[in-house]
Amino acid sequence: MAGASARSGGGGPCLVLLLVVITAVLAGGSSAQQLSTGFYAYTCPGAMDAVKSVMEAAIAGEPRIGASILRLFFHDCFVQGCDGSLLLDDAPGFQGEKTATPNNGSVRGFEVVDAAKAAVEALCPAIVSCADVLALAARDSVVILGGPSWEVKVGRRDSTTASFAGANNNIPPPASGLANLTALFAQQGLSQKDMVALSGSHTIGQARCTNFRAHIYNDTNIDSGFAGGRRSGCPSTSGSGDNNLAPLDLQTPTTFENNYYKNLVGKKGLLHSDQELFNGGTTDPQVQSYVSSQSTFFADFVTGMIKMGDISPLTGNNGQIRKNCRRTN
Ligand code: HEM
Ligand SMILES: *[C@@H]1O[C@H](CO)[C@@H](O)[C@H](O)[C@H]1NC(C)=O
Ligand SMILES: *[C@@H]1O[C@H](CO)[C@@H](O)[C@H](O)[C@H]1NC(C)=O
Ligand SMILES: *[C@@H]1O[C@H](CO)[C@@H](O)[C@H](O)[C@H]1NC(C)=O
Repeated sequence: MAGASARSGGGGPCLVLLLVVITAVLAGGSSAQQLSTGFYAYTCPGAMDAVKSVMEAAIAGEPRIGASILRLFFHDCFVQGCDGSLLLDDAPGFQGEKTATPNNGSVRGFEVVDAAKAAVEALCPAIVSCADVLALAARDSVVILGGPSWEVKVGRRDSTTASFAGANNNIPPPASGLANLTALFAQQGLSQKDMVALSGSHTIGQARCTNFRAHIYNDTNIDSGFAGGRRSGCPSTSGSGDNNLAPLDLQTPTTFENNYYKNLVGKKGLLHSDQELFNGGTTDPQVQSYVSSQSTFFADFVTGMIKMGDISPLTGNNGQIRKNCRRTN
């Protein structure tokens, strides 16, 4: 339409007005701007409380599950946006994301997402997406474990597709250096500052030996006492003990605070990628600022979570509201 008008070569006031309107619609019409905190206020007012109750029960049963759910949200959002693509099971003729390298044998908590979705479906069938259930469950996990709260924007719809290649390419591996970590977040529209703040998620949860073995045996930017302790639970030869777990925050892996950054300053980051955030580079001052001020960390973390939750949502008539998070309708 704009093209046809342009070809007419006219420049009258009507054309100018038309172009102004089109520009305004395009600028205001990005799908993230269609998310809002009140999206379900009339159609499913109980959704948020229902998700929260499920998360409270799940974390009371197993405190680590809050970390696992927070990570699911990250791994969902980094692959075709926050669209529930990670939640889809593999099926004949359909390859999901669950066995991609960053996820295989590592992502967990899908039963809890199913329980939260079932609770919401019981209240208001076919209204609330799996992508939104996961966004709410991630926020609730942070709050229940002692972290900051924020209002979650909702209105996302669920994908009918997944991307195994996207999961392999977009999610940063733990061997990454600072430049690659920064680049992979930039690819999602997130700044280096967001990257450092969101990495504070590693104040909760666990990692497998296979993901920190090289760091504790071969890196030199690590406290020797800490490395020694971790080596005793993680044999140097790959294969044996690959799935042995260690806490990402050696002090309090089920409490969300700023200890992660204190560990980094003490050269006690568990992953190579963690220690990269405090290794004599440009992000050292940000790490120091979070050590001095937990409230600064919390504020930046919330900003980062809201930005991450805005990554390429499906809205309007795109996608669907899945009935079962594990398969398309
Ligand atoms: C900055 C780049 C990041 C890298 C390289 C990275 C890498 C990893 C790795 C390797 C693990 C352990 C997985 C395993 O061994 O099974 C892990 C766990 C975890 N990650 Fe990250 N991560 C990053 C950023 C994030 C972000 C942005 C979040 C959330 C917003 C997050 C949340 C978590 C949580 C909560 C866990 C523990 C999960 C559990 O205990 O089940 N990570 N991460
Ligand atoms: C996922 O892990 C399992 C168990 O370790 C392995 O058998 C399978 O080949 C892996 N899948 C992919 C796609 O790498
Ligand atoms: C970092 O990125 C470069 C360029 O894409 C790549 O060649 C290299 O393997 C990456 N390194 C790590 C540790 O991810
Ligand atoms: C440490 O580095 C050596 C030399 O590159 C390598 O052979 C060995 O496999 C590495 N060990 C671990 C645990 O990554």
